[in-house]
Amino acid sequence: MAKADMDTLQLACIQIAIALLLLTQAKSTTEDTSAVRPNNTVPSCIAGERSALLAFRAGLSDPTNLLPSWKGDDCCRWKGVYCSNRTSHVVRLDLRGPGYRTGNESRQVLAGNISSSLLGLHHLRYLDLSYNRFDKMQIPEFMGSLHQLRYLDLSWSQFIGRIPPQLGNLSNLQYLNLDTISYVSVDSSFHRGTYSTDITWLSRLTSLEHLDMTGVNLSTIVHWLRVVNMLPTLKVLRLIHCQLRISPDSLDISSNGFYGPFPDAIGNMTSIVELDLSDNNLVGMIPFNMKNLCNLETLDFSVNNINGSIAELFHRLPSCSRNNLQWLSLHHNNLTGSLPTTAVERLSNLSWLDLHHNKLTGHVPVWIGELKQLMMLDLSYNNLDGVIHEGHLSRLDMLEELRLSDNSIAITVSPTWVPPFSLGTIELRSCQLGPKFPMWLRWQTHVMSLDISNTSINDIIPDWFWTAASSVMSLNIRNNQITGFLPSTMEFMRAKQMDFSSNQLGGPIPKLPITLTNLDLSRNNLVGPLPLDFGAPGLENLFLYNNMISGAIPSSLCKLRSLQSLDLSRNNLNGPITDCPVNESSTNMTDLSIVNLSFGNNNLSGEFPSLLQKCPRLIFLDLGHNQFSGALPAWIGEKLSSLSFLRLRSNMFHGQIPVELTKLVNLQYLDLAYNNISGCIPRSIVNCTGMIQKGDNSDELLYGFTSGTRLFPENELVDNADSVTVLTKGQERLYTGGIIDMVNLDLSCNSLTGEIPEEISTLMELKNLNLSWNNFNGKIPENVGALMQVESLDLSHNDLSGEIPSSLSALTSLSCLNLSYNNLRGRIPTGNQLQTLEDPTYIYIGNPGLCGPLSVNCSSQPEPIPGENHGDASGDLVSFFLAMGSGYVMGLWVVFCTFLFKRRWRVSWYSLCDSLYDWVYVQVAVTWTSFRAEING
Ligand SMILES: *[C@@H]1O[C@H](CO)[C@@H](O)[C@H](O)[C@H]1NC(C)=O
Ligand SMILES: *[C@@H]1O[C@H](CO)[C@@H](O)[C@H](O)[C@H]1NC(C)=O
Ligand SMILES: *[C@@H]1O[C@H](CO)[C@@H](O)[C@H](O)[C@H]1NC(C)=O
Ligand SMILES: *[C@@H]1O[C@H](CO)[C@@H](O)[C@H](O)[C@H]1NC(C)=O
Ligand SMILES: *[C@@H]1O[C@H](CO)[C@@H](O)[C@H](O)[C@H]1NC(C)=O
Ligand SMILES: *[C@@H]1O[C@H](CO)[C@@H](O)[C@H](O)[C@H]1NC(C)=O
Repeated sequence: MAKADMDTLQLACIQIAIALLLLTQAKSTTEDTSAVRPNNTVPSCIAGERSALLAFRAGLSDPTNLLPSWKGDDCCRWKGVYCSNRTSHVVRLDLRGPGYRTGNESRQVLAGNISSSLLGLHHLRYLDLSYNRFDKMQIPEFMGSLHQLRYLDLSWSQFIGRIPPQLGNLSNLQYLNLDTISYVSVDSSFHRGTYSTDITWLSRLTSLEHLDMTGVNLSTIVHWLRVVNMLPTLKVLRLIHCQLRISPDSLDISSNGFYGPFPDAIGNMTSIVELDLSDNNLVGMIPFNMKNLCNLETLDFSVNNINGSIAELFHRLPSCSRNNLQWLSLHHNNLTGSLPTTAVERLSNLSWLDLHHNKLTGHVPVWIGELKQLMMLDLSYNNLDGVIHEGHLSRLDMLEELRLSDNSIAITVSPTWVPPFSLGTIELRSCQLGPKFPMWLRWQTHVMSLDISNTSINDIIPDWFWTAASSVMSLNIRNNQITGFLPSTMEFMRAKQMDFSSNQLGGPIPKLPITLTNLDLSRNNLVGPLPLDFGAPGLENLFLYNNMISGAIPSSLCKLRSLQSLDLSRNNLNGPITDCPVNESSTNMTDLSIVNLSFGNNNLSGEFPSLLQKCPRLIFLDLGHNQFSGALPAWIGEKLSSLSFLRLRSNMFHGQIPVELTKLVNLQYLDLAYNNISGCIPRSIVNCTGMIQKGDNSDELLYGFTSGTRLFPENELVDNADSVTVLTKGQERLYTGGIIDMVNLDLSCNSLTGEIPEEISTLMELKNLNLSWNNFNGKIPENVGALMQVESLDLSHNDLSGEIPSSLSALTSLSCLNLSYNNLRGRIPTGNQLQTLEDPTYIYIGNPGLCGPLSVNCSSQPEPIPGENHGDASGDLVSFFLAMGSGYVMGLWVVFCTFLFKRRWRVSWYSLCDSLYDWVYVQVAVTWTSFRAEING
């Protein structure tokens, strides 16, 4: 019985299958009949189209995992596939990937090949393959045969190569988006994007309304405008970053690279609604006949080279019975002159006005305040001046973004003024807002980005400010004279980055917002200990230098697992640095991420911190000017293998330079001056290739530095102004510093003995070599002239004997030389750079055996008496400092050496005994801290 039942069942199944087969065949042959379906709102798939879709999927590089919903018979139910309700044909294929613009992370990224089986979808009207990864693939030519297409979006899918002219066969096309970008991919191969050398095919797309060819290289096409003008219904034209240029229509001068002015033809695009030609090479003034573009709503000519007066440009904007223009973006051009003083009628509907980075001068006219639809106003980076008052702002109810940074504008409003708007972005850097704290900010409680740095505020920070600013993500009030305390409620703010540096904030550091990643509180008057709980576990950069913070360094630092840059220099911190607590339940004792660490200029004590063994990524370490003692540990060489900059200056370290230190192959900056280090210079110093060749890790260095310093990239301007004045032998000079290029070996003022190893002359990149105030004996290395980069060489106050090597005269970069107070004898070499050094007397003084270009006649020179006349101060620190303190006894020569860097940066350095000159030291700002703060390149 079971058997019979089974047979019947099988038979039924087969019959159904055959019926289905016939049904689908019938469907595919009678395309436009809907009668075969039970109701005409739920289409079911046509077999031929189903196989076309499956073949398309099979062409993808990972067919099994991509498009997982593509199974089952009814392809009309597959994700992204849409069939006609009437005919069941696939009419729409929406396979847009999860681009950041779409915000749709659930979508798949398609990759691999686009199969021509898509041609089986004869009724396809809509095809969206954007935001996928068809890299290293050209747009397939067969797409030109999808004749029914109305909508084609291939943007952001990493196509390369020529745009196929076959697309010109898509005569029904209304929307075409070929937006591509050139980029450098993960394997660092340059992705060259798409190009076209002939776009005449476009003129056949006579139904086209929307054309976006952003990023397509059109640099060889001169008459693109003529082609575009043949599209009678074009509403949206986006040719952003296409390397466009224009030549006058009559001549073809494409070959000579001439970038012509705007041709009049642009005024013939009367149907245009959005015109975006930003980021090209367009030159000159926009043509006068743009007046006629009455449908224009969006005009973006930013990042070109449009020049001429802004008043003239405004005059040429569309002038019609109805003002449609809403969006005007002209930033990064060369527009000059003042904004016109009378209201510009044609701008009355503007909601977006972006003129930043031009050369505008004069006042901001009051009619700006009549643009009642205005949501975004950006006039920053111009040369505007004058006052903005309530009349400019009181009617701008819709305003969301106000950007006026880097002009000479004063914003003067009554302290009781209540603005009509609620801004999300306020950028007023370097405007004049002070001296009183701007009260109107009180009403701006939805701000995300607030920059009032360098705005001459000289006032106490009001309590309401912290409430108003509680939702701000990026907060910058640096470089004012703001007093007051940070609030205890700071932890309830939501900022990611905060810059309060260079003010006069006092009080302790409260618990920080949990969201905070970057905090700069440097150059204030903060007191008290560091918080036991910072409260911001994601902190990456923390700058607290130049304050009066006291107490010990808390172990809570160990909880900041993301911390990359920490600068606590120039405070009153004391005590030893304790190691991170082991096996604390809440923390996972993996390594710390710190790259830059500065504890310089405090009163810290104890041994070289063993905590540093957990910092394998460390590149910069400054412990200078503290009370650290003990020997330098041998583990430095192993645990800190990335170290490039080590500054231990002015501590009480003793013992030998561990030979393991020379395992730091990247070490390019070693400063052990003013300690009590004894023994010899290890010959393996030549293993520090950082002093021999540059370049291997310079990217890393730059990253290490800049990641920490550029909390707010726009601070560059302010920091450049932060340059310092140094007294150099009575002359004032201006220096700013960049440490990345600094290659330095400073072992001065220690108790080192033995000969200066001949190997030292292989450290070819050295810019500063200072071995003064030690007990070195023997001869100056014969080959010292090989140090071609050296700008300052100080071997003074040692026990060096013999003759000065003549190779010295080959040091063409030398600007500071000091060989005084040794036991040198013989003739002083002459020639080249040596002739140009200032005040040669002091270079050689205290070497009675020397003769030459100075006064002493060589033939009458007596033999020197060994041991006499060298300044042996390093043996007895006390007498040394006494001697120093009593002024310029011993003919002490103080040099402030100048280092000329490859970049635009210069740095000041000085060679001797800086403890005497702390007042200079502070101004010179030679610690890494200040270097760091001043590097922005
Ligand atoms: C179409 O038919 C299905 C199944 O027969 C039914 O569930 C559905 O409600 C119908 N749709 C309409 C719009 O009538
Ligand atoms: C098919 O019908 C459904 C339901 O009425 C509707 O949502 C859908 O937009 C229609 N599809 C097309 C392509 O017209
Ligand atoms: C603009 O259009 C007018 C009228 O169609 C035509 O006479 C003129 O030549 C066109 N100008 C340009 C520069 O294409
Ligand atoms: C900007 O305009 C000025 C004056 O019109 C001109 O001298 C200068 O060359 C222009 N700059 C650029 C980059 O075109
Ligand atoms: C420590 O952290 C690592 C990586 O974050 C993790 O894999 C590991 O399980 C953690 N160990 C403990 C004991 O929490
Ligand atoms: C210095 O480098 C040489 C050659 O690579 C190596 O043999 C030597 O052990 C190194 N010295 C130190 C102290 O690491």
